[in-house]
Amino acid sequence: MNLGPDLWTNPTWEGAGPDYPAWRWKFVQPILPDVKNRTCLDIGCSSGFFSLKLKELGAKYVLGVDDGEQRNAIQQASFAASCLGLQVDFRHLSVYDVGSVGKSFDVVLFLGVFYHLRNPMLALDALRRVCTETLLIQTITTPHHQSQAQINAKHDDVDLHGQILNEPEFPLLRFVEGRLNGDPSCWFVPSVSAVTAMLRSAGFEVEEVVFPTSNEIIVRCRAI
Ligand SMILES: C[S@@+](CC[C@H](N)C(=O)[O-])C[C@H]1O[C@@H](n2cnc3c(N)ncnc32)[C@H](O)[C@@H]1O
Repeated sequence: MNLGPDLWTNPTWEGAGPDYPAWRWKFVQPILPDVKNRTCLDIGCSSGFFSLKLKELGAKYVLGVDDGEQRNAIQQASFAASCLGLQVDFRHLSVYDVGSVGKSFDVVLFLGVFYHLRNPMLALDALRRVCTETLLIQTITTPHHQSQAQINAKHDDVDLHGQILNEPEFPLLRFVEGRLNGDPSCWFVPSVSAVTAMLRSAGFEVEEVVFPTSNEIIVRCRAI
């Protein structure tokens, strides 16, 4: 990220690419609600790019939390905030424990974290308890065809003995026992319909879905 005139963090790193956060932001910003004077929570904030964007856009209070494979996330994020002169509360905290903060949030970002979790439904339930308005979630998915039908398909009563459980549109979580493209920190790859069904089950209404690539989605949903 850019911390000052001609000052970029890790400009030559080949991981996600030097322009990675800006690329992701290009898809997130158009579906972000107005955060001016709102309270925001950024789960899995890593080095703080999205938390700092929320603050730049005028959020009243931003809490960025991280507790995962990025061991130095909170130190990096705090350093970036001090360079940019922005007040963001960065804490080492797991998504499962956000309730312990004792606050609720108008807008919650949950970008790039879902598939790193061993207990994804537990995390969505925890987020629903602290989110009062909007949740933005980004996750990798099984290959999809950007189909609206996958998003809306809801199965109220499933026949264990029928074919439905093997139908491609039925919500599906693939469990990754080993590594995913060399990454040992990923556990589930959900289908698009699994993401939207799990969000509904946790008490969110899907409002908008963006398909940046054929293996990922960003969903904006509303707490109901
Ligand atoms: C792929 S990075 C995504 C970073 C950033 N949100 C983005 O979209 O670019 C995943 C982040 O989630 C964090 N993480 C993993 N498990 C977590 C958990 N249980 N609670 C909070 N953060 C977690 C990791 O440490 C890492 O910083």
